[in-house]
Amino acid sequence: MAIISDGEKFKPQKDRENISCRQTEYDYSFETNIRPRSFDEYIGQTKLKETLKISIEAAKKRNEPLDHMLFYGPPGLGKTTISSVIANEMGSKIKTTSAPALEKPRDLIGILMNLKNNDFLFIDEIHRLNKVAEEILYPAMEDFSIDRTIGSGEKTKILRIPIARFTLIGATTKAGSLSGPLRDRFGIIHKLEFYTNTELKQIIKRTAVILNAQITEDGSELVASRSRGTPRIANRLLKRIRDYAIVKSNGEITKEIAQKAFKLLNIDEFGLDIADRDLLKLLIEKHEGGPVGIETIAAALGEDTKTIEDVYEPYLLQAGFISRTPRGRKASAVAYKHLGYKLPSVQQNFLAD
Ligand code: ADE
Repeated sequence: MAIISDGEKFKPQKDRENISCRQTEYDYSFETNIRPRSFDEYIGQTKLKETLKISIEAAKKRNEPLDHMLFYGPPGLGKTTISSVIANEMGSKIKTTSAPALEKPRDLIGILMNLKNNDFLFIDEIHRLNKVAEEILYPAMEDFSIDRTIGSGEKTKILRIPIARFTLIGATTKAGSLSGPLRDRFGIIHKLEFYTNTELKQIIKRTAVILNAQITEDGSELVASRSRGTPRIANRLLKRIRDYAIVKSNGEITKEIAQKAFKLLNIDEFGLDIADRDLLKLLIEKHEGGPVGIETIAAALGEDTKTIEDVYEPYLLQAGFISRTPRGRKASAVAYKHLGYKLPSVQQNFLAD
């Protein structure tokens, strides 16, 4: 197969920097500082905001907690952010945790017993809850109570302990991995969508004001167009390019400065980084475009299958670089063209376009 451009052949990079959207500790504190606090400040997800506003108004009028909610979608789209906005709009507190932190039953029971009426409990990665924790949640969600087993054998008794009337917000990148009984207990289930470039541009300009960074119109447009539809990436890139602008220029982020910074960061015009291109090159160079099983991809790139599925794939699928088939992932004609490979003529008909 002919390689037209790009001297960079497939060679997975071990210590590559990851600009994709896995959240880091660093992001967490940064995001907490720049997070919108109200629907007015929150940009994008327009339909979701409209339905939530109605639910919130109704709940306030009925003086009841909101229905339990499940938000799903790729990482970095603002599941945590929208949840804290909802709690703020309700004038309530939110306790944030994640399923892996609720390994022991007493961790979850402790949290549930400390909740006050109308509080929110946010559980990230809720698809990773263990069975025992799920069983604790069922009566908590349905009847606002916890069942404790006392004694053993014939003397076993179940003690029902009332807890506060709270709202559970579950967040997951994999709604399909949630057990049926748990999914059925959420009154509101909503998918978060990728953001448009116009929305990302607004987010970038808002964050720039908070960071006291200067950015031109075409500078913010360029950063938006390379942010893969994802606010977390947009904000992360903005910070990196701001640093570049301070060191290499007068601090203002212009289109030219942003272009140079992207070159240094190895991020192309679609916002793909080295890791994304490695994945595409693997399909194209080593497997004639695929289909390739997820385990094979993960092993070749030195990542686990979950990371490939949750972090890399959503945007590559959405932007049309790959497709998912029952036999594995395939590179699309768009991927061939973008990376400068000639489409193998025999396979043209079999590739997704
Ligand atoms: N920062 C991250 N996500 C945001 C959003 N949706 N609106 C405003 N600022 C944000």
